[in-house]
Amino acid sequence: MKVLVIGGGGREHAIVWKLSQSPHVDKIYCCPGNAGIADMAECIDVGSNDFDALLDFVKYEWIDLTIVGPEEPLSRGIVDVFEKEGLRILGPNRTAAQLESSKVSAKDFMRRYGIPTAEHRVFTSYIHAEDYVRLKGAPIVIKADGLAAGKGVIVAGTADEAINALKLIMKEGVFGDAGNRVIVEECIYGEEASFMAFTDGKVIAPMVSSQDHKRVFDGDKGPNTGGMGSYSPAPVITKELESVIMERVMRPTLKGLNSEGIKYKGILYAGLMIRDGHPYVLEFNCRLGDPETQPVLSRLKTDIVDIAFAIADERLSDINLEWKPEASVCVVIASKGYPGKYEKGKVIKGLDDAKKHKDVVIFHAGTSFNNGDIVTAGGRVLGVTAIGADIKDAKEKVYRAIEEIHFDGMHYRKDIADRAIKRP
Ligand code: AMP
Ligand code: GLY
Repeated sequence: MKVLVIGGGGREHAIVWKLSQSPHVDKIYCCPGNAGIADMAECIDVGSNDFDALLDFVKYEWIDLTIVGPEEPLSRGIVDVFEKEGLRILGPNRTAAQLESSKVSAKDFMRRYGIPTAEHRVFTSYIHAEDYVRLKGAPIVIKADGLAAGKGVIVAGTADEAINALKLIMKEGVFGDAGNRVIVEECIYGEEASFMAFTDGKVIAPMVSSQDHKRVFDGDKGPNTGGMGSYSPAPVITKELESVIMERVMRPTLKGLNSEGIKYKGILYAGLMIRDGHPYVLEFNCRLGDPETQPVLSRLKTDIVDIAFAIADERLSDINLEWKPEASVCVVIASKGYPGKYEKGKVIKGLDDAKKHKDVVIFHAGTSFNNGDIVTAGGRVLGVTAIGADIKDAKEKVYRAIEEIHFDGMHYRKDIADRAIKRP
């Protein structure tokens, strides 16, 4: 069978890597892919949002299954376009994807179904938003309604910082239309975790838990990024808490969607804050997390093609998800400047030596080829991932492999997974 993966980051490399292990798969394509993905798939230079070209390609090549990595094509309705043509594609349709693409819709939805989340108010007028921030005081969270490439949330430590964020979003329009509506939200302190599940719209099957590291520097300092590292499992999600999350968050979400006539198929990802043992939803995503996918798929034993087909054909209840008991850790290596304006085109050395390390896989996030060299081409460049007996073992393997890798200006966090290791 032929499979197409849409996207070109570390998450998509992990999906392609997992697909490459499936006996069902003869050929993998990736649009647009990257230099690492090119080892296992044929990369085609078509962008993730060019639906006409993607559709032409899938029909011409007789692709059996398309898997969508990033949120943008989902929020623009790629699934609607493909399904209309009778093509098999993994992901929610445009309406269902609003759970991620409009934070206001998601908050309204959670309120309707009693899903635990932070208190909030929605504003379309700057002056009312400013008054509300002054009334509530800091810390407080400001969120642009629409997709903002992971930059639309500002956790403000002071009222001035919050008001500054409001000005940038509502007056200067730094996120364009995504900032037409703004959420001002209560700040919740606790431990974050990513909880992802597969769903065919009927049943919802949890994946193993994981945890991201959003801030760019060690000790959770500096601005938010797309994610600087991750590990699975997340010890904060105990078996008991997993049951609570399924009962209070995941199943009510699916039930609520169904009751509104919305069929949600694909991946449902709840970004959670765990406060005093209780989960609160900070956001929903309608796709796999990046970089959470790298350690989570490293632990998946079940054939991903079987899962994808079961979702598409709405018989996920037939699948028994199996996971490796080992732990996995992923550390992201980023370009100089990231998450701000970053450098590109730096030659990456040592990849072959790093790849030889046992139990280590190097997922490429932002790389391309230049005159036979592999060079940097994105903010997040590589996600070095290892599986080990426990998180500490996996972490040590990752950092040993990273010592082999070099490019100008590279930076990465040295404390990924420490929180899990030091946990009492
Ligand atoms: P989101 O995109 O909504 O997950 O927000 C990005 C990040 O901002 C989250 O991963 C948290 O670190 C932080 N965040 C979002 N909402 C809140 C909140 N209500 N309280 C504290 N931190 C938050
Ligand atoms: N790593 C966070 C996300 O994928 O949204």
